Amino acid sequence: MAAPLWPKYDVNLGTLLRTCDAVGACLVVPRKPWIEAALAKGNTLRQPSCVHRVPRPLDWLAAQRAGGTAVVGVELADDAVRLGDLPAARKRTIVVLGNEGEGIPADALPLLDTVVEIPMVGTGLSLNVAVAGSLVLYKLAGLL
Ligand SMILES: C[S@@+](CC[C@H](N)C(=O)[O-])C[C@H]1O[C@@H](n2cnc3c(N)ncnc32)[C@H](O)[C@@H]1O
Repeated sequence: MAAPLWPKYDVNLGTLLRTCDAVGACLVVPRKPWIEAALAKGNTLRQPSCVHRVPRPLDWLAAQRAGGTAVVGVELADDAVRLGDLPAARKRTIVVLGNEGEGIPADALPLLDTVVEIPMVGTGLSLNVAVAGSLVLYKLAGLL
């Protein structure tokens, strides 16, 4: 599951939705009115897509983890695993994506089992969140 739980820009949700469809994952979004409009606008898929709406992202994440689902955070961090070293998922896994401006909030960090970072050699400070999420989803799906 791809979980952009604190999204800022609607265009990224449409892009993530298409990647989810490509790798056989579901998208998890906060339950907010503007998100529905963003998904409707960005959904170019022919089939109905798998989307879960959660009213309280942190509570949902904690419950999923307590139930045995692996939680992988996608973030630039000192203790992160590099994308190339991330193995394919062997069980139900949530890919947590950060806010476009603030990243993953501090109160969500204790809920992450692993943090994965995509190495960068350019001058930019970070990748677009939908690009970062798509790369990690493909790696976890074992399709790269
Ligand atoms: C634009 S970035 C957030 C940048 C924010 N200013 C910060 O310092 O955290 C949005 C999200 O994309 C993902 N992301 C972007 N580049 C990444 C990278 N190189 N490795 C891992 N995650 C990345 C993370 O989930 C991040 O929270």
